[in-house]
Amino acid sequence: MRAVVQDAYGIAGVLRVEEVPEPEPGEGEVLVRVRAAGVDQGVRHLVTGEPGVARLAIGVRRPRNRVPGADLAGVVERVGGGVRGFAVGDEVLGVGRGAFAELARASADRIVRKPASLSFAEAAALPISGVTALQAVRGRVGERVLVLGASGGVGSYAVQLAKALGARVTGVCSGGKAGFVRSLGADEVVDHREAEPTGRYDLVVDTGGRRPLRALRRLLTPRGALVIVGGEGGGAWFGGLQRQLGALLLTPLVRQSLTCPVSLVGAEDLHQLVGFVERGQLRVPLDRAYPLERAEDALLRLSGGRVLGKVVLTV
Ligand SMILES: NC(=O)c1ccc[n+]([C@@H]2O[C@H](COP(=O)([O-])OP(=O)(O)OC[C@H]3O[C@@H](n4cnc5c(N)ncnc54)[C@H](OP(=O)(O)O)[C@@H]3O)[C@@H](O)[C@H]2O)c1
Repeated sequence: MRAVVQDAYGIAGVLRVEEVPEPEPGEGEVLVRVRAAGVDQGVRHLVTGEPGVARLAIGVRRPRNRVPGADLAGVVERVGGGVRGFAVGDEVLGVGRGAFAELARASADRIVRKPASLSFAEAAALPISGVTALQAVRGRVGERVLVLGASGGVGSYAVQLAKALGARVTGVCSGGKAGFVRSLGADEVVDHREAEPTGRYDLVVDTGGRRPLRALRRLLTPRGALVIVGGEGGGAWFGGLQRQLGALLLTPLVRQSLTCPVSLVGAEDLHQLVGFVERGQLRVPLDRAYPLERAEDALLRLSGGRVLGKVVLTV
């Protein structure tokens, strides 16, 4: 089968399409014929080996897994042992291993049926960013929500989900993307190149900009919740994880809730997300779909900060 492969960390000049052996579904897994694969900052980290500390887990000199990609949408090709609820031919979305390929393995508890209303490209843009946004807002939405990085993958879902859950939403993004963020339902938009957000919010979802913890806390009501999802540009080795560490240490001592979850995509959350899609409360903001051969361009578009919402590869 054809797959994107890499034998070193990096994007430009590193990723290429090659013939590789087909994967076999293990116990509890299905083999998915991939029709589209999502591209997000998480994949970019794995492809580039940044921040450096991640290499301790994924391979010190080069990535242990040659085929990148996690988010996928496609058709079940084979069903492994012990799998119930999926059959050959089912159209699915979720998270797999080595999704930048014609075939990929996926745990049956990390995929769900694809709704007919979504194309494969849209469906592949949903899992990781959508579940991360859902986990950030669920149970925390008060009257007012602030989404930092509202134009990005996680942020564009967080804006829509917070609106669907009844909040007044302020989105923060660069000025050229303000119209896009309004189209997602944001009531107000702040251009971070012109001004910093002000006011007090019941929930602040932080996905971009790397503001210091004390600045983020000033944006919260006395019992507000801060969810630090992430943010790029925090340093080559640790990626600025100090903010998350600070939040973890401080939260037991203050009335505000300061969290920095690591989102794990499971079928239950995917079902909930699909529910929002089917009720017309969540749309997939697809910026662009690239063919598998152009994985490099897709990742460079993402790292260049040009994406509105999500980018995918189509297979
Ligand atoms: N914890 C987890 O489990 C988890 C899961 C998924 C992602 N993440 C992390 O979360 C972060 C966001 O992921 P993503 O996929 O949504 O990334 P993304 O698509 O690149 O979105 C980030 C957005 O932040 C905006 N931004 C940049 N500087 C900003 C600033 N100063 N103020 C406000 N917004 C700013 C960017 O565009 P504009 O400034 O041009 O508007 C961009 O749209 C990444 O660091 C990723 O690694 C963590």
